[in-house]
Amino acid sequence: MTHQSPSKERWGTRVGVILAVTGSAVGLGNFLRFPGLAAKYDGGAFMIPYAVAFVLLGLPIAWTEWAMGRYGGTRGFNSTPGIFRTIWSNRAAPYAGVLGVLIPVMIYMYYVFIEAWCLGYAWRYLTGEMMLGKDSAQYGAFFESYVGASQDGAIFERPQDTALWALAICFVLNFVLIYRGINKGIEWFCKWAMPALVVCAVIVLVRVLTLGTPDPTKPDQSLLNGLGYMWNPNTPTKSLWESLQNSQIWLDAAGQIFFSLSVGFGVMITYASYLRPDDDVALSSVTAASGNGFCEVVLGGMITIPAAVVFLGPSVAQNPPGTFGLGFVTLPLVFEHMPLGQFFGFLFFFLLFLAAVTSSLSMLQPAIALLEEGLGLGRRASVSLLGFVTLMGTGFVVYFSKNFMALDTIDFWVGTFCIYILATIQVILFGWVMGADRGMEEIDHCAEICVPRVVKYVIKYVAPVYLLTIFAAWVYQNAGDRIEGIRSSPVVAMSVGFIGVVVLLFVLLIAQSVKRWERAEQAQQEVRI
Ligand code: ALA
Repeated sequence: MTHQSPSKERWGTRVGVILAVTGSAVGLGNFLRFPGLAAKYDGGAFMIPYAVAFVLLGLPIAWTEWAMGRYGGTRGFNSTPGIFRTIWSNRAAPYAGVLGVLIPVMIYMYYVFIEAWCLGYAWRYLTGEMMLGKDSAQYGAFFESYVGASQDGAIFERPQDTALWALAICFVLNFVLIYRGINKGIEWFCKWAMPALVVCAVIVLVRVLTLGTPDPTKPDQSLLNGLGYMWNPNTPTKSLWESLQNSQIWLDAAGQIFFSLSVGFGVMITYASYLRPDDDVALSSVTAASGNGFCEVVLGGMITIPAAVVFLGPSVAQNPPGTFGLGFVTLPLVFEHMPLGQFFGFLFFFLLFLAAVTSSLSMLQPAIALLEEGLGLGRRASVSLLGFVTLMGTGFVVYFSKNFMALDTIDFWVGTFCIYILATIQVILFGWVMGADRGMEEIDHCAEICVPRVVKYVIKYVAPVYLLTIFAAWVYQNAGDRIEGIRSSPVVAMSVGFIGVVVLLFVLLIAQSVKRWERAEQAQQEVRI
């Protein structure tokens, strides 16, 4: 019941697949989301729940995704619904995988818009238009008009001065690369973009680490204080123990691990399905997760906040203006104060753009895989159909941009809530349906490292309990506010309705795919008889 002809697409090289997976993981989450969260939670204190979530959730779930992906791929499936069907012979199995397609597609819808801001900012730094002076209000006003945050639909009034043209470029770039396929599109791009990104980040990091105390009249605004602010677990006003008693820090740390590693996204499972049956998954997934950790903690964590503390003081770093304020309002002000700021501003936003493209690309592949293997569409048709759906979604997010209402709503319900659900489904499928012993054999197959046996118990018991506890804590703390938000704001209600429509679309698509798979399996059986 669970075999179809294996997909012809494969990764070209081991380095290529690791760079592609690391590319999917390293993104705006590393350079913008992580420093923002660390600053919010008093720097070093955040690292403890972050490390716990990495060890107990991030890495074990990454292993399960790589192993399940390779397992499904060798049986001819590349989409989460198809892969789940190879693992669980129940009619509900492919539908349990709907989030593995929904999450990446819907995150793409707003992620590509932020990617466009990065490209637009990089271009403006290159041409010198981004050096607006030392008045912070100018940067806030510029950002608001560039992304259309003042009014719904404002961005369409003066498209030439906004992020719309950059959005068009990003959209075309992503779809051209996806059209070229796994090997000639995704792998090829990640092979040069990832090293380029790291080079840009290291240059910016060296600049930040050599800032010293630029203004001797403000000795507190020194590099050492910036680093201390980022890494000290105790602050003058709060002990580590006090910080750790806040349950929200544990929720946000786990959410950051998922978002940053791209686990529970439906992405890694699809990427791993293009491995060969005898490719290692154990070491490759650790390498990709460590590469992501390096970019997040070392590069992301030591650039943004220390630079903001050095030039603007800790209060500005800790309380940036709005969700995207740290990246798109505070940092440009920092580059204004920095010697050669125009050059470093360009490098920083260009590296953000590269990091975002390697991630957004990966968000398109799961749906392409489902359209191809479920409906039997060719590459051109599947890319065109997905292009149309994502264009509608991005159009929705871009239009309802007042205070980023649509973006924030989809980010929360899909980019946080649904990710917890998919991660929980995955660990239960792996640990209890496939069976932890069989699952570990799958991880160990052709493994180049020995995965410790304790991981089996972590996957089977610890991770599900951890996830369900986090979920219960969330329901207790936040569910009421979120539901009230839907009731009180028409845009939030419309955004949630829009998510519902996309869920329905994918459920219908899966139903159609199942019919096709069953017909193919029946035909195979008749041939055998
Ligand atoms: N993992 C990607 C990021 O961190 C989505 O941005």
